Amino acid sequence: MQSQADKLKQIVKSDKRRSSKTKFIAVTSGKGGVGKSTISVNIGYLLSDFGYKVALFDADIGLANLDVLLKVQCDKNILDVLKGECSLEEIIVPVKKNLILIPGESGDEILKYGDQFIYERFFEETTTLDDLDYIIIDTGAGIGEHTRLFLNAADEVIVVTVPDPAAITDAYATIKITSKFKSRVYMLLNMVKNENEAKLIFDKINKVAASNIGKDFQLSLIGSLKNDKNISKTIRNRTVFVKEYPNSITTAEFKRIVKKMILELEHKVLDNDKDGGFGGFFKRLFEQF
Ligand SMILES: Nc1ncnc2c1ncn2[C@@H]1O[C@H](COP(=O)(O)OP(=O)(O)OP(=O)(O)O)[C@@H](O)[C@H]1O
Ligand SMILES: [Mg+2]
Repeated sequence: MQSQADKLKQIVKSDKRRSSKTKFIAVTSGKGGVGKSTISVNIGYLLSDFGYKVALFDADIGLANLDVLLKVQCDKNILDVLKGECSLEEIIVPVKKNLILIPGESGDEILKYGDQFIYERFFEETTTLDDLDYIIIDTGAGIGEHTRLFLNAADEVIVVTVPDPAAITDAYATIKITSKFKSRVYMLLNMVKNENEAKLIFDKINKVAASNIGKDFQLSLIGSLKNDKNISKTIRNRTVFVKEYPNSITTAEFKRIVKKMILELEHKVLDNDKDGGFGGFFKRLFEQF
């Protein structure tokens, strides 16, 4: 008898959709509470300010909170779409011009509700999102099974860490596991004293990675953010930092990170002709089962 996973594989393999330019960036970490959601929201916000069409996809299994951070209300999420109870369009929450939120749910549940009809419907609907330039995936902390699936399916992975040794050890564990299926990982050093501290920490991790992971694997520093008390303030007030403090040093750091990201990804997209779009992303996700 055919297993559910086999059925899913068949569906995704027969899914012929046009290629899309949408780039999927997963923001992850080893340890929790290092700033993934803050970074996802602010990077998404800036990209949309720059004129790109962006979606924030809340993939923090069981702990989805981007709706809270963005002060928007979501009654339904991606699970309702998979269950066939509503359309993808119905769950999308507009945040601002060029920025939408795709509310997330638990990966376990996604599998539980998977049957052929639902997935076929779902794949048909994903074309709705194919004109997006970027989808930022805010994952859960730690390299649990669900997070690993999202990282694998994403085009690029950003591992966030703070300078404390426990967070660095956990970040390295995430990098090591991610290196099994990605040839490049970006690091973002958050809550540092200064740029120099970020560089020193990155160099140390990079040395360990170079000698333990292998020369084909590339670890790059995408940038760093200083500890800024106004970030916590905006989180408490449910406002977006780069919007509230557009002229701050930290917003300049965020902008530098975003510009570097755009530059690096636009180079890479030239030799990237795998299935794109939201459908392509889910195809990659389901192919792993
Ligand atoms: N650069 C920074 N300076 C000061 N505070 C920060 C900075 N970045 C994040 N924070 C604060 O750290 C806390 C955790 O941030 P956030 O919720 O974004 O982390 P997370 O990695 O998404 O957490 P979780 O693993 O629980 O999802 C928040 O209160 C936020 O305000
Ligand atoms: Mg979070």
